[in-house]
Amino acid sequence: MRKKVMAWMMAASFFGAAGCQAAETPAQKVQTRPEKILVAYYSWGGNTRFAAEKIREITGGTLFEIRPVKAYPSNYRACVEQARKECRKGTRPALAAKVENFEKYDVIFLGTPNWWSTMAPPVRTFLTEGDFSGKTVIPFVTHGGGGMADCERDMRKVCPKATFVRGGAFSGSGIRSAGNALEKWVGETVEIKK
Ligand SMILES: Cc1cc2nc3c(=O)[nH]c(=O)nc-3n(C[C@H](O)[C@H](O)[C@H](O)COP(=O)(O)O)c2cc1C
Repeated sequence: MRKKVMAWMMAASFFGAAGCQAAETPAQKVQTRPEKILVAYYSWGGNTRFAAEKIREITGGTLFEIRPVKAYPSNYRACVEQARKECRKGTRPALAAKVENFEKYDVIFLGTPNWWSTMAPPVRTFLTEGDFSGKTVIPFVTHGGGGMADCERDMRKVCPKATFVRGGAFSGSGIRSAGNALEKWVGETVEIKK
C-alpha cells in the first residue's frame, strides 16, 4: 500500500498537485434542498465511498453507488493496467443499475477516484447515459497525490448539458480524517434549505 501511495505521490510532483485542492474555475454556490441532492460515486478501494458517505451525511442527500456490470480486477496491478487502457480509450463500461427517479434530483455530487489523471470509466458512462439538462454537477475526487488532474475538465467535456460547480479533490490516504475539510468544501458549494 505504501508503495502505491509513493508511486502516485511521485506522479503528483510531476503534475505539480497534492493534498486537497480545487480546480481553477470560480466557486459558485447552489441553493437546494436535501431531497434534490444525489451523491453518486464510483469507488474501487473504498476511499471515494468514504467521502461520498460523509457528503451524504452532511447534505442529507441520497447515496448511489455507480457499479459496472463487470467489476474491475481486485488485484491492484491488473486493475491499474486495465484502467490505463480504458482511460486512454475513453471506454464506457455498462453499468449494473440506474438511479431511480433521476429526474427528481437537481444537484449531483459526483465522486470518482483519480485514475490515470481522469475519472474512472464507470463515471464516464454515468455522465453520458443520464439526461443532465438543468442539473448541477459538483465533482469530488480522491487521489494518490495527483489531485484533481483532468477529472473535472473531462467530466465537463463528456457532459456539456450539465452546469458544473467547482469540484473538490481530497487525498485518498487521508480521507478518513478529512471530515472537516469535506464539510468546509460542501459548505462552499451548496446552501441547503431544510
Ligand atoms: C487504476 C488506478 C489508477 C490510479 N491513477 C492515479 C493517478 O493517475 N493519480 C493519482 O493521484 N492517483 C491514482 N490512483 C490512486 C487513487 O486515485 C486513490 O488511491 C484513490 O483514493 C482511490 O479511490 P478508491 O479507494 O475510491 O478507489 C490510481 C489508483 C488506481 C487503482
